[in-house]
Amino acid sequence: MDYENLMEKAIEASKNSYSPYSNCAVGACVLTENEKFYTGCNFENSSFGLTICAERNAVGSAIADGEKKIKAIAIYSPKMEVCTPCGACRQVLSEFQSSEGCDVITLKNNELKIFKLNELLPEGFVL
Ligand code: THU
Repeated sequence: MDYENLMEKAIEASKNSYSPYSNCAVGACVLTENEKFYTGCNFENSSFGLTICAERNAVGSAIADGEKKIKAIAIYSPKMEVCTPCGACRQVLSEFQSSEGCDVITLKNNELKIFKLNELLPEGFVL
């Protein structure tokens, strides 16, 4: 799947966001080494700390399907000029990035803007 299509999936997923408290919908789509893709959106809770980010929701679906090597993730929010993953999601992604690393695909002014996870999370925690 190319990165334009991956972003389309992230945009579609953002439409399913449950975000009545922040009113900030986020969608994500993970691409694995086996060319499988998994979408996720954020879902909030009245107990605010229980909110799950779109990225971790998508990663969880990949893991549940037996996919543990992520080569790219597209992220989209209609609320943000560029939607990059929060610090916690960067750390979670780093656990499952492929040996080639992980591309983080965002949308800026309707154009793809691509980061490397390792540039967004230098010196992440590794056991
Ligand atoms: N959110 C994400 O889904 N991903 C991130 O990387 C950061 C924040 C969500 C959580 C919450 O529902 C809303 O965006 C506002 O913080």
